[in-house]
Amino acid sequence: AATKKGQEGPPPRRVVVTAGPTREYIDPVRYLSNESSGLMGFEIAKAAAERGDDVVLIAGPVHQPTPDGVTRVDVTSARDMLEALREHFPECDVLIMAAAVADFRPKRRLAGKWRKKDDGTDTATIELVKNPDLLATIARRKGERLVVGFALETGDGVRRALGKMRRKNADFVVLNDASALGATTTSVTVLGRDGSAREIRGRSKSHVARHLVRLERPRTAAAGR
Ligand code: CTP
Ligand code: CA
Repeated sequence: AATKKGQEGPPPRRVVVTAGPTREYIDPVRYLSNESSGLMGFEIAKAAAERGDDVVLIAGPVHQPTPDGVTRVDVTSARDMLEALREHFPECDVLIMAAAVADFRPKRRLAGKWRKKDDGTDTATIELVKNPDLLATIARRKGERLVVGFALETGDGVRRALGKMRRKNADFVVLNDASALGATTTSVTVLGRDGSAREIRGRSKSHVARHLVRLERPRTAAAGR
């Protein structure tokens, strides 16, 4: 049952949610990012707060109103998000990693504007380096915490999503399709370490969010998954 602060009952769960894209700057005015609107993560934060959880929402650059009762931490880059996770993960019971973290960042961020050269060439190259895998890094030693990752896939989804769940030490992975980016409805398959698979087709992100905040840590880890 939901427990409001200041009332009797078990202490509220402490939930950390990440949402939105990250932004990786090339120079002071240009960046690499992606289509994530942040809506899924914001709906998760809202659904968790509504059931009485203490919620910290770590958000990339998005235009979304902060849900009532939610503590919001705004970040820009993947490395900023990792820093915020390092601060808030140790204190949490549940992590739901809905952010669309940029996989790469420019190797160098120029201090001044990147200018075209008048040397006759009409191509340019930006050297990229891999960002750290935030979920894998932070969930490596997760103890008793419930960890839920997302997997954005185009085709051949289940196998890849299960691989991500294992590699990142998550209890569940929410498989969704690239068509979910920027949309208000989504179709997902929630895959569990216990071998469970729950499909939710064409529902609002708030509906999916209410399902996700009710997940509990699987008791047994199925062998071979
Ligand atoms: N994720 C992360 N840090 C990254 C990349 C992804 O924490 N640098 C998290 C996402 O927030 C998500 C999960 O990992 O919860 C899966 O993200 P996804 O982009 O689907 O997988 P990747 O591991 O990045 O693999 P790829 O994009 O190459 O398929
Ligand atoms: Ca990725």
